[in-house]
Amino acid sequence: MNELTLTRPDDWHLHVRDGTALAYVVPHTARQFGRAIIMPNLKPPVISTAQALAYRERILAAVPAGVDFTPLMTLYLTDNTPAEEIRRAQDSGLIHAVKLYPAGATTHSDAGVTDLRKPAAALEAMAEAGLPLLVHGEVTDPDVDVFDREAVFIDRHLAPLLERLPQLKVVLEHITTRQGIEFVTSAPATVAGTLTAHHLLLNRNAMFSGGLRPHHYCLPVLKRETHRQALVAAATSGNPSFFLGTDSAPHPKHAKESACGCAGIYSAHAAMELYAEAFAAADALDKLEDFASHFGPDFYGLPRNKTRITLRREEWQVPDSYPLGDETLVPLYAGQTLRWRLR
Ligand code: NCD
Ligand code: ZN
Repeated sequence: MNELTLTRPDDWHLHVRDGTALAYVVPHTARQFGRAIIMPNLKPPVISTAQALAYRERILAAVPAGVDFTPLMTLYLTDNTPAEEIRRAQDSGLIHAVKLYPAGATTHSDAGVTDLRKPAAALEAMAEAGLPLLVHGEVTDPDVDVFDREAVFIDRHLAPLLERLPQLKVVLEHITTRQGIEFVTSAPATVAGTLTAHHLLLNRNAMFSGGLRPHHYCLPVLKRETHRQALVAAATSGNPSFFLGTDSAPHPKHAKESACGCAGIYSAHAAMELYAEAFAAADALDKLEDFASHFGPDFYGLPRNKTRITLRREEWQVPDSYPLGDETLVPLYAGQTLRWRLR
């Protein structure tokens, strides 16, 4: 097989930032994907419908002419999100989910939720409206080992939330552990999970190979090989509860290569090529279309895309960097060879 033609995929978890960065990163995603769920962790965060709709316009302005790409907006949940804001979001028809960042869990999460019982009215309104909660599933308790934060979050916070609100649609995002996979697998169909290309391709050794590798640092952090294998098995299983979400998260090179480097891996430049690499390694390229193009819209109740993309078997070298305004951006697999290329 030298060509792989798929229904145009969507990215169900993406950071594009704001301002001048948009013009540099949005075209990478828009070239590959029909739609993307846009993360609201700007500074300040996107907490209202009005802010989300204004942000949507700025993203659309960065889509190259002639390219058909739809940003699917989200709101950032806080302790004080009112139920009316959820209803406004739903009525807009342009906001498709609400994001939970536990306060302090990751980049730009200071305004996040301190206790999941606080936004109870908003969560009830979401359950009623069928608006999914997208979960950054990590505890922030400094006593919990950083490699255990996802599993502990599921036990302490996610399972109790779903007991309180079983109708709530939930996406456990960027799953990194066997425990996360098991949780979604055994949950009802209202609970799904996204998987990034980098967590399918790399284990935690990649952060330390020959020295400290800041461009392999993201949150949730890469885990050991047994977990990576569980993620690959889930992605290639044909289970509709697992679908694509890159978590492509651009940071300027200097902010990554620093004494306190930012979390986030940039993968939008070659997202489908990277997933193809992971699926090919598992001899499961026939499972890529469902994962990348079908299961996500089915979960969100949106139509599947009508157009198609083609990946060709062709070696190419990923650039060492891309421009990001006056800064540069080091992409995943910088300088390395990929074996699939989007036509
Ligand atoms: C994300 C970012 O940079 O905004 N970073 C990351 O490591 N994934 C935030 C997030 O999704 O956790
Ligand atoms: Zn993210």
